[in-house]
Amino acid sequence: MIKPLGTTLMTEKTVHVWDPLVRIGHWLLVVCFLIAYVTEGDPLLVHIWAGYTIAAYVVIRVVWGFVGPRHARFADFVCGPGAVFAYLGGLVRRRSPRFIGHSPAGGAMTVALLCLLAATTFFGMMTLADTDDAGPLAPWFGNTGAADAAASGGTYESPYEEIHETFVNVTLIFVFLHLCGVALASWAHRENLPRSMVTGDKRAE
Ligand code: HEM
Ligand code: HEM
Repeated sequence: MIKPLGTTLMTEKTVHVWDPLVRIGHWLLVVCFLIAYVTEGDPLLVHIWAGYTIAAYVVIRVVWGFVGPRHARFADFVCGPGAVFAYLGGLVRRRSPRFIGHSPAGGAMTVALLCLLAATTFFGMMTLADTDDAGPLAPWFGNTGAADAAASGGTYESPYEEIHETFVNVTLIFVFLHLCGVALASWAHRENLPRSMVTGDKRAE
């Protein structure tokens, strides 16, 4: 093949930022959230196992936030509200500094999403204990009366189901804001952040 004269092969320097647990866990969260959301509790088995996968990953990710590699640690990206709003204010004017790990806003969103997913799955398990006397919380919050009524064809509306649904909807709003943040930061810093969540690599500078 003829090579144009005067061209040099440019190799961009990259740094490895996201470890496999963070990357695989992230896309597992996305798939399982989608499955849990579209199943809406029916088929229940698919719904609750997608939910358990999310709950288990959230626990693992929290532990990883203390013992994982540098950019996975909470200490690397949890900042006060001042830093978060200063970063966001500068971002729209394309003046915020670029971060190799999570930006202050990305870090705040990470904490918010992990808390919301924990609350959503917890109240899902409360709903299951209350309506079917089943699941990991049944020994403490199981409602045998409701389970018997359901078995004999009756219906029972658990108050926890409404809380579960509210957390689902709040999480959904945060996922939307998360996607807006990812798009805005990708534009402001001229980089493909979703691709980094796949490969784990980012441009070095
Ligand atoms: C249900 C949907 C989603 C949830 C629950 C979710 C949750 C999260 C969480 C918890 C993190 C922090 C990662 C960590 O430190 O472990 C994160 C980061 C990230 N997510 Fe998502 N995510 C969702 C959808 C998406 C989608 C669809 C994309 C791509 C278009 C995406 C792109 C990213 C990127 C690029 C980061 C890193 C942000 C940064 O560089 O600071 N996310 N997400
Ligand atoms: C992030 C994960 C989850 C999402 C997005 C999600 C989403 C939903 C949605 C949208 C509904 C329908 C609410 C309604 O219309 O009233 C629902 C119902 C329900 N969810 Fe979840 N859920 C999740 C996790 C869980 C978990 C972990 C469990 C239990 C182990 C669970 C158990 C239930 C039960 C028992 C219902 C009621 C089903 C029915 O009566 O038809 N969910 N969930």
